Parts: sequence; structure tokens; C-alpha cells
Amino acid sequence: MNFEKSKKAFEEANKYIPGGVNSPVRAFKAVNITPPFIKEGKGSKIYDIDGNEYIDYVGSWGPLILGHCRPEVMNALKSSVEKSTSFGAPTEIETEMAKLICDAVPSVEMVRMVNSGTEATMSALRLARAYTGREIIVKFIGNYHGHSDCLLVKAGSGALTHGTPDSPGVPADIVKNTISAKYNDVEDLKNIFAAHGDNIAAVIIEPVAGNMGVVPSTKEFMTFLRDITNTYGSLLIIDEVMTGFRLSYHGAQSLYNVDPDITCFAKIIGGGLPVGAYGGKRKIMENISPLGSVYQAGTLSGNPLAMTAGVTTLRLLKENAKIYEAIEEKSKRLEEGFKDNASKLGIDIIINRVGSMLCLYFTKNDVHDFDSALTSDTAVFAKYFEEMLKEGVYLSPSQFESIFVSYAHTDEDIEKTIRANYNALKKLL
Ligand SMILES: Cc1ncc(COP(=O)(O)O)c(C=O)c1O
Repeated sequence: MNFEKSKKAFEEANKYIPGGVNSPVRAFKAVNITPPFIKEGKGSKIYDIDGNEYIDYVGSWGPLILGHCRPEVMNALKSSVEKSTSFGAPTEIETEMAKLICDAVPSVEMVRMVNSGTEATMSALRLARAYTGREIIVKFIGNYHGHSDCLLVKAGSGALTHGTPDSPGVPADIVKNTISAKYNDVEDLKNIFAAHGDNIAAVIIEPVAGNMGVVPSTKEFMTFLRDITNTYGSLLIIDEVMTGFRLSYHGAQSLYNVDPDITCFAKIIGGGLPVGAYGGKRKIMENISPLGSVYQAGTLSGNPLAMTAGVTTLRLLKENAKIYEAIEEKSKRLEEGFKDNASKLGIDIIINRVGSMLCLYFTKNDVHDFDSALTSDTAVFAKYFEEMLKEGVYLSPSQFESIFVSYAHTDEDIEKTIRANYNALKKLL
């Protein structure tokens, strides 16, 4: 495969953009190769500027559950853009989007649109703190909720340790009210609530963590989390930025049968355009400005292009229940194919999969939290990633990310990917 044009483009980008990219993981640093520069996409495929074709399992990091250039989405966008790009004034399509979300996810009675997942979680925390009059936020080690200051917190040395900044530039004062808890660990959470429960505004969780590979919370853990937050009067915020409308039309929360106070969305609800949203119980959401006093705003929030792409995507998902069945079936075949290859070759791997989110770890250990995810051999992953790319399969360029299967992936793509996996694993021997 030739990457000459991408190499030149990356050099040029590095002169003007920090690290050559507008979001760090795109730089492919974890796998130590130059990222291909992408020119276009169609269905399940993307094409780089050197003319290489890839089967795309990143899907813009999750939003493209229907693949690239889904005709209904593209046509709706074309007719929307002809009426202007933005108004900063109310439009009917915003209500349509809100209705679709509220109808799909029963715990959401009102919803506010923002422009990214980061904005959604950041605003949800402000609302939770205002509503409860409390300051502490509990998050889980290995869960990512965007890059707002108070959520950029590393694993502390002990469960009860208050957070320390994960990035320079985040004042210790800002994260002193963030506690990092162990994912899937009931005892740890019990201890944290015993010590701080009366001042915990909210617990925020990725129901299926997609930022340490793919690590689902257990049903027992989620049930316990709901119970203990209820007992202490803390809010439960479920971050469905990645899982929302992907694992089910009704969100991961429907799979766990849990009723959160606030839910955060992004990715799929924007159909590939910049969007986020947070929504929840009416009595909580009514505190947001201009109805209440919790301030939160956005020049481009609810803009017509993002709403059009999102509404069209959600409508297609709603009207075609078979989409989820088909994606589940394709994802299962990938999982089984990969496992089969590894066992034929005698390579130890663990595959975690929930619906169309899948991660292959190079470890023998069961992966159920951050520490167990870290047992995967990232050097081997980097080699595997490079081999898959050479085979024409574009995976997430980090061990600690999910791959995303879309409705656009064909049977042929799945077969080709399983063959590529076999060839790539063989090169590792
Ligand atoms: C679970 C989760 N929450 C929040 C975010 C932040 O979203 P954004 O990148 O749109 O700010 C992400 C991003 O991947 C995410 O996976």
C-alpha cells in the first residue's frame, strides 16, 4: 500500500495544527504510523488520498451506524442546506428531534441539544450540582466523558482518593470534587457513599464502557448503582454518547432496565454532524435557563443541518427494527470468526462485544475493568493494527477503543475482515 500523499499531507498539517490533527487519537500515535488522510466515504468503505480503499470500522467514532453517505441522510441534508445553514432561532425540526429522543428513551422527558458529547456531560453535571445543591461527582476509572475539566480525572491510588488532574492545565481545585471509583466494583462504591454520600451530586457512568476497549457494566452493578444513588438522593447520569441508539433504539439503559435521572447523547443523534444532547426527568430539566436558573447556551445548538442529519438517521432506525438485528448478526459473525482464527493459530485473545461494539484484546485475562484492560499487550495490538490496515481494514487506532459495525457492512465485508484477521494474526506468530 502506498501512503506517500498521506505522509506529505501529514507533514503539512503538522506545520499548522498541533500534532497535525484536530482530535488526538486521529494521529495514530498509539500504533506509531502515519494516519491515512481520508478523501471520501461510501457505505462501509472509506478512501484515502493515495487511492487506498478500506472497510471502515470506525464510522467517525460511532455516529455512522448507517454507513457513509446514506442516501436519505444526504438528500435531506441537501434540501436543508438550501434553506441556509443556521438561524440561531427556533425551528420545528428541533422539536421533532426532542420528540424522537423522548419517545425512544422513556427516562428522558425533556431534552436540550448541545454541540458535542463533552458539552452534554459538562452541562449535565452542572445541572445535577445545581439540582441537588451538592458538589461531589463520582466517575469510574477508565470511563471517558469528554474533556471538560472536572471529568479529566485519572485513577486515584485508592477508591476514596479525590481526583488529581489528568492533564496539565486543570486546576487541582476544580477536580477536588471528583471521585474516581472502580468500575463494576460494588464494595468500592459502597465505601465512597459511606464516606461522602450526603455530598454526592451525581454518579456518571458509561453503561458499556467504550473507552477502555469494550467493557460492559454488569446488571448487578448497574442495579446497585441505581439503588445507592436513590438512597442517598444523588442523581444517576448515564452517558450514552457512544451507546445511545447503537446498542438499542432505546439506549443501553433499556438493556439494563435502569431508569436514570439524566442521560447524555451525541454521535448517532447527529448522523455524522456535530451534536450532543442531555435530557432527563422534567422536574430536573425545568431548572435549565430560560425556564430555570442553571445557565447553559450555544450559538449553533440545534442547528438545522445537524438536526436534519440526526432526525433522518433516527427515523430510519425507528422505522426499520431489522437494522439492529442485522448489525447484531454481522457483529456476532465477526466475533466468532476472530475467535475461530485465534484458536486455529493458538493465539490468546479476549473479545468483548456488546451488539455492534467490539474489542479484541491481546491477553488471556477476562477484561471487566480498567486494570484488566491494561493487561492487553499494546505492542502486539499496534502490529496487528498495521497488518489489518495493509489488508484494507480500518480499525480504531488504539487498543482502548471499540470498533463499530454498521448497517452498511456487507456479508462480503465481514468475510473479508475475518480473512484479514486471520492473515494479520498469523503475522504476529
Ligand atoms: C462515552 C463518551 N462520552 C463523551 C464523549 C465526548 O464526546 P465528544 O467527543 O463529542 O465531545 C465521548 C467521546 O468519544 C464518549 O465516548
